[in-house]
Amino acid sequence: MLQKITVIGAGNVGATCAQRAAEKELADVVLVDVVEDMPMGKALDLCEAAPVEKHDALITGANDYAPSAGSDVIIVTAGIARKPGMSRGDLIKTNAGIVDTVVKQAAELSPDAILIVVSNPLDAMCHVALKASGFPSERVIGMAGVLDSARFRFFIAEALQVSVENTHAFVLGGHGDTMVPLPRFSTVSGIPITELLPADKIEALCQRTAQGGAEIVGLLKTGSAYYAPASAAVEMAEAILKDKKKILPCAVYLTGQYGYNDLFIGVPVKLGIDGAEEVIEIKLTDEEKSALDNSAAAVRGLVDTLAELGF
Ligand code: NAI
Ligand code: 2OP
Repeated sequence: MLQKITVIGAGNVGATCAQRAAEKELADVVLVDVVEDMPMGKALDLCEAAPVEKHDALITGANDYAPSAGSDVIIVTAGIARKPGMSRGDLIKTNAGIVDTVVKQAAELSPDAILIVVSNPLDAMCHVALKASGFPSERVIGMAGVLDSARFRFFIAEALQVSVENTHAFVLGGHGDTMVPLPRFSTVSGIPITELLPADKIEALCQRTAQGGAEIVGLLKTGSAYYAPASAAVEMAEAILKDKKKILPCAVYLTGQYGYNDLFIGVPVKLGIDGAEEVIEIKLTDEEKSALDNSAAAVRGLVDTLAELGF
C-alpha cells in the first residue's frame, strides 16, 4: 500500500499537487475542498488518467476530512490567491481563518502527519498552522524557497544557455518582495554564478526572482502561479516520504538559528521522514545578513498583524 498525502484545497495548486504526486506514484492522494463535489470530480478525472500515465496511485476527492485520516503528509493550499495589484500580505485575514479551520480538522485525524503549508502569506500561515495543529515545529514546514530557487535556477539557465539540471540556487528569507536570493551559493555545475555572470546581470536575475510571483500574476490576470508551486511542494513531500535527507530552502520555525526566535522564515533545511530534521546555518556576509534581517522584519510585521486579528 502506498503512503497517503492529503491535499487541502483542490484549486489550481492543490489539484496540480495531486496530479504530480500521483504521476510519481509517491502516495495515494486525498483531495479536500469546500466546493461541493468539485474535488470528487477532479479526483475521478485524475484516476481516469492513471491507465495512460501508468500509475496505480488512488486519488480520492472529498468535502470532509474522514478519508484523510492517517495521512503521512498534508499539503495545505486552501485559501484565496492574489490578483493583479494585490500583495501576498493582502490575503492575510481571509487565509488565516481558512488555514486555522482546515488545519485543526485535518490534524485531529492525522496526528502524526507532516504539514507542508502553501497558502499565502506563506510565513505567516505557517504560524497559524503551527498553532492550529499543536504539532511540534519540525512537522510544520512552509513551501516558498524551493519555488523561489527554482525560478532563480530557470533564469540562470536561460541567461547562460545551460541545462536547468546543472543549476543550484538558494533563495532565503520570507516569501515576499524582501526575499533574499544568494548568488554566492547559486551555482552551475558547482561553479558560483558570481564567476560566470557580470554583477549587473546577476542583480537583474535576483530582482526578477523576487518579483517572480507578481510576473505570473500579471500575465494570468485571474490568479497566481501553480505549476511550479505544485512541483516545489511535491518535491518537499517526496523528500519527506522517501526520507531523502535533501537540503532545500524551506520556511521553518527558528529558535535562535540565524539570530531569529519564534519566527518562520526560509533557511536551508534537511528534509526527511521526521520533517525539518536540521537547519543548516551558513555563514552570511554582512550584506546578506542585513538583507535577511530586512526580510525577517517584514515577516515579523505580518505575524504582528496575525496577533491583532486574534490568531
Ligand atoms: P485557488 O483559488 O485555485 O484554490 C484555492 C482552493 O481553496 C479553492 O478551490 C477553494 O475552494 C479552496 N478553499 C477555500 N477555503 C477552503 C476551506 N475552508 N477548506 C477547503 N478548501 C478551501 O488558489 P491556488 O492558486 O490554488 O492558490 C492557493 C493558495 O496558495 C493561495 O493562498 C496562494 O496565494 C498560495 N500560493 C502560495 C505559493 C507559495 O509559494 N507558497 C505559490 C502559489 C500559491
Ligand atoms: C508565487 O510566488 C503566488 O506566492 C505565489 O507565485
